[in-house]
Amino acid sequence: MPIPGIRGFKDILPEEAKRWQHIEKVARDVFRCFGFKEIRIPILEKTELFARSIGETTDIVEKEMYTFVDRSGESLTLRPEATASILRAFIEHGLYAQDKIQKLYTIGPMFRHERPQKGRYRQFHQINAEAIGLDSPTIDAELMTMAMHILSALGISGVELQINSLGCSHCRPQFRQDLQSFLGTRQAGLCPDCQRRTVSNPLRVLDCKVERCRAALEGMPSLSEYLCPDCKTHLHAVERQIQLFGVPYIINPLMVRGLDYYTRTTFEITSLALGAQSAVAAGGRYDGLIKELGGPELSGMGFAIGMERLSLLIGDLQKIEEEPILFVAAMGEKACVIAARIAHRLRLAGIQAEIDYEGHSLKSQMRRAGKIGASLVLIVGDDELARNSITMRDMKSSRQWAVDFNNDIEALVLCIGEEMGRFV
Ligand code: HAM
Repeated sequence: MPIPGIRGFKDILPEEAKRWQHIEKVARDVFRCFGFKEIRIPILEKTELFARSIGETTDIVEKEMYTFVDRSGESLTLRPEATASILRAFIEHGLYAQDKIQKLYTIGPMFRHERPQKGRYRQFHQINAEAIGLDSPTIDAELMTMAMHILSALGISGVELQINSLGCSHCRPQFRQDLQSFLGTRQAGLCPDCQRRTVSNPLRVLDCKVERCRAALEGMPSLSEYLCPDCKTHLHAVERQIQLFGVPYIINPLMVRGLDYYTRTTFEITSLALGAQSAVAAGGRYDGLIKELGGPELSGMGFAIGMERLSLLIGDLQKIEEEPILFVAAMGEKACVIAARIAHRLRLAGIQAEIDYEGHSLKSQMRRAGKIGASLVLIVGDDELARNSITMRDMKSSRQWAVDFNNDIEALVLCIGEEMGRFV
């Protein structure tokens, strides 16, 4: 009996992997232009790193982490996100000693034990960016613009940038308290999760998707009215800057995030085309987090784009450039040996070359060449070799012509290189 993969852990098959390579290339190009450098961090971390940063009472930490005790008795967790790990590395290696401003990105898998559905997996992948050491609202606007730019560079349109401010340690506690009192009066109307959240994490009630919870929130206090003057000024400056960048957005005062470390600016980029899991990217500012994790008092702002959701949005939208393929068909014993040598030499020269390995007829080799999408076929036959000749066939136009071959593979590779150039 075959052993199936794990629920919520998706294979990325070659067709989709091509799209992923394209996505990663576009993202890396954008990061380069915006001055971001790549950082690669481990997949496993000590559990307390996530508990302390994401928050003990968040769904992620309470219910969704893949946590286990390893052979030395230590509690470890498969990373549910990248921000905490990047900051841990930033602190551990004292990157701030070289430069307190660090713009870092990473691309890789994350793990959350959520209920799998379209666009939601238990292993998923993020393109994650963090700008550390900058208080300026300009960086908030710049990061949101950069996330939008990655999407548009991939040909994705019809997305909405939603912004909110979650306030800071000065103004949020009062809002939290008043919201908690308000929710206390609405318990009967709330789902069991939100009844629990009222005590543990009342802000999370704001983005509960259950219909009756949304109705129960009617008349609740509004966070925007609680923002302190500094938070208000910051939000207005972010808005001004993002308008200057010419990026459309809306303010969504109900948007709270599933992670507790955010302060002030938060954002999500959503698309109706994604259905229930509508956020393709999300992030925000986390000004107290680096200190909380034992580092210097530096602020930070970042975001993550979900690769699976990006891939869904791209679909067949963009034709990803195919690399031309050359097929070397061979007829006869001597020809097979020469064909393998020619293909080998072409591969070393950077050309994708395929051969037949099983002594099939020429007809069947041509069929195979068509199937794999070869642009050019080289036909090597014992008879032709005896006449110092090889045939080339342009698969699209079906034009066929003879090429001199005096056992000089180098000259032939040059000639093929030129021919292949036509297909790039
Ligand atoms: P997040 O909102 O938890 O934020 O995730 C960001 C994005 O990752 C989501 O908008 C979505 O596209 C994708 N994503 C999340 N969970 C799943 C899942 N189960 N399946 C598929 N895709 C998923 C963070 O992770 C923050 N660390 C972002 C950040 C970086 N904030 C500051 N810096």
